[in-house]
Amino acid sequence: MFHVVDHPCVKAKLTILRDRATGSKQFRECVEEITAFIAYEALKNLEVETVPVETPIASATGYRIRNDVVIVPILRAGMGMLDGLLRLVPDAKVGFVGLERDHETKLPHEYYCKLPAAGPDSVAVVVDPMLATGGSLAAAIDLLKREGFRQILVLAIVSSPEGRDAIEATSPEVKVYTGCLDAGLNENKYIVPGLGDAGDRIYGTL
Ligand code: URA
Repeated sequence: MFHVVDHPCVKAKLTILRDRATGSKQFRECVEEITAFIAYEALKNLEVETVPVETPIASATGYRIRNDVVIVPILRAGMGMLDGLLRLVPDAKVGFVGLERDHETKLPHEYYCKLPAAGPDSVAVVVDPMLATGGSLAAAIDLLKREGFRQILVLAIVSSPEGRDAIEATSPEVKVYTGCLDAGLNENKYIVPGLGDAGDRIYGTL
């Protein structure tokens, strides 16, 4: 399932992210804010359990998230989305996956992986701002499945039709939530119109 979060606040923040004149500080803040909007939609099916709570007036029924939420940023750009998600799910665990493109095979190569153990109620939330070819994301999803994660959500900010199709072909059960679906990829596999290199813009390494 591929879902574009169609919301005026997402559209407005996306415009700031697309703008080449936006500097790193504002870009980083905006990535965090837009992530919270996308996550709000993506996490709506988390399970809750009831807990008693005393208000200043009376006893009431409160709720807490029952799932074991594991946020998995794909290094390095995914790190920019982490705090936006932690704002919504402060008790989430965080796992890390580092993938880089092997120059010879052109395939994603895993250079780092540190994940908490998967349990029956675990929901892995993979975050990567740009869903371009889908190669890294598909590799991260495979890895999570091998580690025993049964429920996997993906949060992206900008996606391409090529990336969407790649994930739908390999992992149709994975739900992808994105801020927008752009036109496609250029010859360098950048999303068009996109926003450029998300990692470089977050970390000022342009
Ligand atoms: N990664 C990026 O940072 N930008 C793109 O457009 C594609 C992949």
